[in-house]
Amino acid sequence: MLRSLERERERGFRAFSEAATIAELEAAQVAILGRKAPFSDVQRAVGTLEPDDRKSVGRVINETRADLQRASDERRAELEAVAEDALIAADRVDLSLPGRRPRPGSLHPLSLAEDEIVDVFLRLGYRVAEGPEIEDEWHNFEALNIPPDHPARTMKDSIYVHLPGHPELLLRTETSSVQIRTMQSQPPPVYIVAPGRVYRRETADATHLPVFHQVEGLVVDEGITFADLKGTLDAVARALFGQDRETKLGPAFFPFVEPGAELAVTCMRCDGAGCPVCGNGWIELLGCGMVHPQVLENCGYDPERYTGFAFGLGIDRVAILKYRIPDIRLLVEGDIRFLAQFGASR
Ligand code: PHE
Repeated sequence: MLRSLERERERGFRAFSEAATIAELEAAQVAILGRKAPFSDVQRAVGTLEPDDRKSVGRVINETRADLQRASDERRAELEAVAEDALIAADRVDLSLPGRRPRPGSLHPLSLAEDEIVDVFLRLGYRVAEGPEIEDEWHNFEALNIPPDHPARTMKDSIYVHLPGHPELLLRTETSSVQIRTMQSQPPPVYIVAPGRVYRRETADATHLPVFHQVEGLVVDEGITFADLKGTLDAVARALFGQDRETKLGPAFFPFVEPGAELAVTCMRCDGAGCPVCGNGWIELLGCGMVHPQVLENCGYDPERYTGFAFGLGIDRVAILKYRIPDIRLLVEGDIRFLAQFGASR
């Protein structure tokens, strides 16, 4: 009996230590210490012994069982630790590679140019005004001194929006309509700039877009003269394109100003010498003029007391000149390779 107990102890130690998984260990536990295991047979046979032998053999049985159970428990703890390690290894997140950062966006060159233009005027004390992109004919034409049969209506190649039961509406052809809305909504003095989108029935090419952007400027006060217009726009052109730029005014016609003028600035590429960009050394920058007395009157201002000047500046044009963009269509194509070059953010 003692010999078979010794055999079972060794068999058990071996079986437990060879168990490679919890399931194998549990099977070994049944095989060694289970009810049908040889060990249990010995235990049951103890009853047939003499009382003295029963006592000593019983002690060995208890010790052996305790030793075997301890060996099984220890192996279980080992196997559980291995399983836990495997789980941790499987769940491991690899942090050794650099993360994929979302690339921060940047402002669109049009926004950069608009901000820069508007900032120049804010420093001069102007305020920003806004108006709707879908206008009625009165604000876009009539109030600006462009009656229904005026050739300027065709010149502007307007896009009309037909809404049943609604007076004629159109996509504004210029931000000048904001002049009218501003004067209608406040008494003089007025010092505003109105940046915004405008529309014309035009085919896109390297220098034209059917949807583009302007900054309108309007000043109305007592005693405003053409000299104020000239001084202001000269300062603005230099602020935008460099202090060594020169400007000149030439005659131009816009129905809502009298006299009307066009401001040209010396070419920033050739400094006025003449090059393929400018031709003769000058780049036309904007339309301007003294607000027509009829326009002041249309808005309820007294043209005997107040005078003013207005101008309209193309933002897209400023952007392509400033950033040397070869084709204006790049501004609307949304090509990330183009846009990413304007990395500076506000
Ligand atoms: N609105 C004119 C244009 O789109 C520009 C302009 C504005 C001219 C204000 C004179 C005064 O061409």
